[in-house]
Amino acid sequence: MMSDSLVTVAYLVAAVLFILSLGGLSTQQSAPRGNAYGIAGMLIAVAVAAVAQVRDFGLLAGAVAGGALVGAVLALRVEMTSMPELVAVLHSFVGLAAVLVGVASYLAPGHVGATEGSIHQIEVYVGVFVGAVTFTGSIIAFGKLKGVIGSKPLLLPGRHLINAGMLVACIALAVPFLGAEPGEDLRSLLIQAGIAGVLGIHLVMAIGGADMPVVVSMLNSYSGWAASAAGFMLGNDLLIVTGALVGSSGAILSIIMCRAMNRSFLSVILGGFGADEGKAPPKAAGSAPAGEATSITAAETAELLREAKSVIVVPGYGMAVAHAQYPVYEIATLLRARGTEVRFAIHPVAGRLPGHMNVLLAEAKVPYDIVLEMEAINDDFPRTDVVLVIGANDIVNPGALDDTTSPIYGMPVLEVWKSKHVVVMKRSMASGYAGVENPLFFRPTTSMLFGDAKKNVDAILTSLRATAAAAE
Ligand code: TAP
Repeated sequence: MMSDSLVTVAYLVAAVLFILSLGGLSTQQSAPRGNAYGIAGMLIAVAVAAVAQVRDFGLLAGAVAGGALVGAVLALRVEMTSMPELVAVLHSFVGLAAVLVGVASYLAPGHVGATEGSIHQIEVYVGVFVGAVTFTGSIIAFGKLKGVIGSKPLLLPGRHLINAGMLVACIALAVPFLGAEPGEDLRSLLIQAGIAGVLGIHLVMAIGGADMPVVVSMLNSYSGWAASAAGFMLGNDLLIVTGALVGSSGAILSIIMCRAMNRSFLSVILGGFGADEGKAPPKAAGSAPAGEATSITAAETAELLREAKSVIVVPGYGMAVAHAQYPVYEIATLLRARGTEVRFAIHPVAGRLPGHMNVLLAEAKVPYDIVLEMEAINDDFPRTDVVLVIGANDIVNPGALDDTTSPIYGMPVLEVWKSKHVVVMKRSMASGYAGVENPLFFRPTTSMLFGDAKKNVDAILTSLRATAAAAE
């Protein structure tokens, strides 16, 4: 057994490593270091917790080995585009764990090393509530992201009242629960868990597809608070600190994303605030785009690129699906060797998870200094010759700025249409994640290059290489 002070020191070291890890993750260059700090902190945390608190090592080894195996297989198999789903499932585990720890420490407080008396009762009650909301909410988020559940918001009439009613019921049940002897009123605790579970389902069902990124990061925050609550129940200081770090960083990320999408934070987490009661927002709202779309071939696109002095590439979800980032990097290298200015413009919610495009471009070895965030590059479009939009849609929708009937009205977008020529690569005229028509496709300076992004980017690259070879 370790002495208490040694455990405290080890936990303190782990907590500092977690903070350094979060700091490291703030830029791409320092992210590997941030990950290393996180791994080191977690190894210390698990090892010390095991030595200090666990009595049955056989059981622990079995659980860790089983969990590690399942986790490793899932992590190795998961596609980058499915990462948010995986994250949502992992959040649901944290929620479920908080519920189970709550029930266990209520029934056998001494056994799981909990604090004494009514404080412990409150910890259990709050922990089970947060855990149950996180558990079911995350499962619904997983279903929506996977497409098993429709991405349209479920807007029941009077849904805010329903939510308030469930919250009041949970608070009311706390009276008999806290009044009973510890361990004697499991019924109230379980009924509360059930109501909180329904609340989690209802909260996330009411949130539309376009707001899902914020929901995933909100649930990340909830899972942190659930872990923190479990820390209180188990009397584990490190779990309290770690949970609080996850809880607050998730909340900050959610707020940053809301700003990027011009959504009010409160309305996102309460779901569908401001939208009409009882009916989902129209799928293809917005002014019906006038005119016809013009299509272009890969060879013609290569010609445009050869003549351009400045090019901006806007990657989106479709680039991730097609794995087109590698040939895109080669096109960028080739053009830059010819003296063309090539940069990448990243929208904060491009793709399906925060930083999605940055990760893909880093994977393809695109230099960081030519990858710019939206605010840094949005003013440069008017002096740009060609913009290549690769599998992006919602993030380049002009309707977000000028069409008050558009469901994404108010979301800042990359103003690609201000450049001389825009080439949009996608397979069809289909809408993007938010299900909104995109008037960009019908602008006179826009050309559509239809087909799989990887196939077309490869074709452009081949064409560029052929002329480069001919010129030598
Ligand atoms: P989207 O608006 O979803 O558009 C992606 C486009 O890629 C689609 O219109 C699709 O058109 C095209 N595409 C799909 N597969 C392709 C392929 N193999 N080759 C070529 N094109 C392909 O993506 P976006 O512009 O990146 O915007 C992101 C959206 O997702 C936003 O609405 C955002 O709110 C939401 N969202 C973001 C996140 C985060 S945190 N980034 C998380 C969840 C949701 P075709 O079908 O015609 O090919």
